[in-house]
Amino acid sequence: MKILVINGPNLNLLGVREPEIYGNRTLNDINADIAAKAKEIGVECEFFQSNSEGELVSAVHSVLGDEYAGCVINAGAYTHYSYALHDAISSVNKPFIEVHMSNVHSREEFRHTSVISAVCKGIIAGLGENSYHLAVQAIKEMVE
Ligand code: DQA
Repeated sequence: MKILVINGPNLNLLGVREPEIYGNRTLNDINADIAAKAKEIGVECEFFQSNSEGELVSAVHSVLGDEYAGCVINAGAYTHYSYALHDAISSVNKPFIEVHMSNVHSREEFRHTSVISAVCKGIIAGLGENSYHLAVQAIKEMVE
């Protein structure tokens, strides 16, 4: 079983960007751990990151078809206002889990709104990189 893990804008700067919020580990470090933990439960993960909304929309479209069982998505700030991502996710009949490293509800007001939650199966926020691990596990259990 294959799961696509999508990261949106500024998440390529993990490890450098606001370490007091997002920690010191890079996206590559985090992705390596996601792949390793996923492998232990028989899941293969592929990874995609972009700072561009259109590329993220296309990555969501790539979940259509037989290759992927589902998708873990941290849409970064696009979470809060991208109707294009909302529409893309609702066009794909596979489980999507919305994840956030930080607890968006304990931060600025604009982060309290997500325009993609309603079209995702679930939301995991505030658990750092563990948000991704739990999401991979949840998709695995959902599609089995
Ligand atoms: C984030 C939270 C968003 O509000 C923010 O814009 C991000 C990262 C998180 O993982 O906590 O870029 O999605």
